[in-house]
Amino acid sequence: MRFDVFTLIPEVMHAYLQASVLGKAHAAGLLQVELHNIRHYTHDRHRTTDDEPYGGGGGMVMKPEPIFEAVESVLGDELGRVPIILLTPQGRVFDQAVARELAVQPRLALICGRYEGVDERVREHLATDELSIGDYVLTGGELPALVVIDAVARLITGVLGDAAATQQDSHADGLLEHPHYTRPPEYRGWKVPPVLLSGDHGRIAAWRREQSLRRTLLRRPDMLAKAKLSPEDEERLERIREEEGL
Ligand code: ADE
Repeated sequence: MRFDVFTLIPEVMHAYLQASVLGKAHAAGLLQVELHNIRHYTHDRHRTTDDEPYGGGGGMVMKPEPIFEAVESVLGDELGRVPIILLTPQGRVFDQAVARELAVQPRLALICGRYEGVDERVREHLATDELSIGDYVLTGGELPALVVIDAVARLITGVLGDAAATQQDSHADGLLEHPHYTRPPEYRGWKVPPVLLSGDHGRIAAWRREQSLRRTLLRRPDMLAKAKLSPEDEERLERIREEEGL
């Protein structure tokens, strides 16, 4: 899968993309991330990428011309076929379902805004989608772009070593994941739940499902409405509600 990222500060993204899982995915040819500096598509002596807002008010607005030129020249013939995503706090909220939706695409373009915002004509006539990573405002779209790339890339087959890993993720089936433990079996007197050492796969699976349901109920009850639950899950939940006095 290929990402083309349009930004004024490609250098801040580079290190993260090279490290660990994403770096390995790149080396294995599973993931290609091309960083394009919007400033390289300016034509004036000062390489101007922003200007004052019409109508006054504070802050600066990113000019449309370098952004249009950058995206059009990089996408070339593929323009119209590749989704062009503007990262903005006004976009639809990015979540695991959106990550899955994007992971089927062979190529995505991501535009990172800076300053107070991006000229509205970019949103209207260039971007095909707008994503927000949450209800808070950052200084630019670079961290959101990395968040999107990271969440989407790990869904590509082969990027994570263990194929089953993403099926058990928190949010994968609409529930939070069960707790994890590793050696030692006792640390500072805190013991690993004995069932996990029992070797009984049926009991372990039942315990994990119960923990997953309990956590979601206590921490993110809003998620339960959309979660995929079996009749057995519903019974478990009822029992947990009673135990927790809910
Ligand atoms: N740019 C600034 N804040 C943002 C957010 N929360 N999501 C996406 N892009 C942004």
